[in-house]
Formats: sequence, structure tokens, C-alpha cells
Amino acid sequence: MTLKRACDKPPFGGYSGDVKIHVADHPLITHKLTVLRDEKTPSPTFRQLTEEIVMLLAYEATRDVHTVAKDVQTPVAIAHGAVLAKPRPVVVPILRAGLGMLEGMVRLIPSAEVGFLGMVRDEVTLKASTYANRLPEDLTGRQCYILDPMLATGGTLIAAIDYLLERGALDITAITILSSPEGIATLQKEYEGKNLPITIVTGALDEKLNEKGYIVPGLGDAGDRLYGVV
Ligand code: URA
Repeated sequence: MTLKRACDKPPFGGYSGDVKIHVADHPLITHKLTVLRDEKTPSPTFRQLTEEIVMLLAYEATRDVHTVAKDVQTPVAIAHGAVLAKPRPVVVPILRAGLGMLEGMVRLIPSAEVGFLGMVRDEVTLKASTYANRLPEDLTGRQCYILDPMLATGGTLIAAIDYLLERGALDITAITILSSPEGIATLQKEYEGKNLPITIVTGALDEKLNEKGYIVPGLGDAGDRLYGVV
């Protein structure tokens, strides 16, 4: 799968900076995203498609996952291979919409550890705050994969990234289904010149944010579309 690096190529607005941005460029992802965006797509199909898209994005996002060399005896000869290194990667879905991405991710890395981060966005100030967490206190040397479907203002993702960095995460990759140019720019500004190992892998870069902080054209409220309005 070929993924564009927005920081290498400027067709998505000329982003450059220390945060690496990969925008998916694959017809299967585009197809699935188009059905996902459709307001007529019901929740069960939306959940299934989310899982499938995450698997495709996770394939690229885990390109640098740590492995150790391992030889195995095949029925024919010794094969020189590699297996996932320990400690295992940590997958961190942001509650609640990130939960819809978890299944696709753990299908790809069944042995990953899973931690949870509950973040809520104030609808007026659009600021994110943590209301729950279930994560190891010490993440020293751990590769972390944040799951959050919508990179909108960037506030939630910055709060989550900072949370993991404070606990010593070795590198952090955020997987998002859709991203806004404003959110990407905010992240680049926040971490500019800090030389931190942060990567965003996203299914598509949309046009803009609207005045309510929704991605345009987007797909609406990801949590509501996954789980209904509660
Ligand atoms: N969160 C969502 O669920 N949708 C958006 O468009 C922006 C933030």
C-alpha cells in the first residue's frame, strides 16, 4: 500500500514539520470511506467498515513495529524470520469513538496490550480533558498506537499524546480515519522543533472544520454513528 507523506509532498496544504503525516492513498480505503461517510449507512455497517479501514491503516502504521530475529525449522530447512519484540506494543483507544477501532487493530496485532484513555471535548471551548484512564504508569520503551477516528481540532490528540509522552512512551503513532487541515496544523505547531517521535496515519485529509468543530465533509459524529446517540 502506498501512503503519501504529507510532509514530503505538499498537495494537502504543504504541511511540513516534525510530526510525520501519512495520508492513505488506496482505492479500497477510498471505497470504504465513501460508504462510511454516507449518512444512510447504518451503525452495523459503519462499525464493520471502521474495523476494515483500521486494519488497512494499521498495516502501514505498524511498519516500524519492533521485531527480533528468530529462526524456525520448517519441514524443509531453517527459515530466518522475525517476531514481535517484547515489550509488546500498547494500543490506546480514546473513549468512546476510538473503541470502534480497537477490533481492527487487535486483529492485526493480537498480542498487543490495550490501555484506555477517556477524553471528553467541551462543546463550547472545544478543549479536551481526561475523565478516565487505564494504562500502565510506566510506558518507558513502549511503542504506542493511539486510536481516534477524527482528528478535528487536534486538542484531544495533543492531550493524549502528552499523556503518553509524560509516561515515557518511546514512540507514538495515532491512527485516525479522517483528519482536518486545521488539526494537522495545530499538531505540527504544538510539537514543532521538539524532535519527538510522533506519526499520524490517516485515511483521508478533509477540507476544513466548521464552526462547531466538525470535519467537513467528514462523516458526522463518529461516536454517534458507531453507537447511536446516548
Ligand atoms: N468528532 C467527530 O465525531 N466528528 C467530527 O467531525 C469532529 C470531531
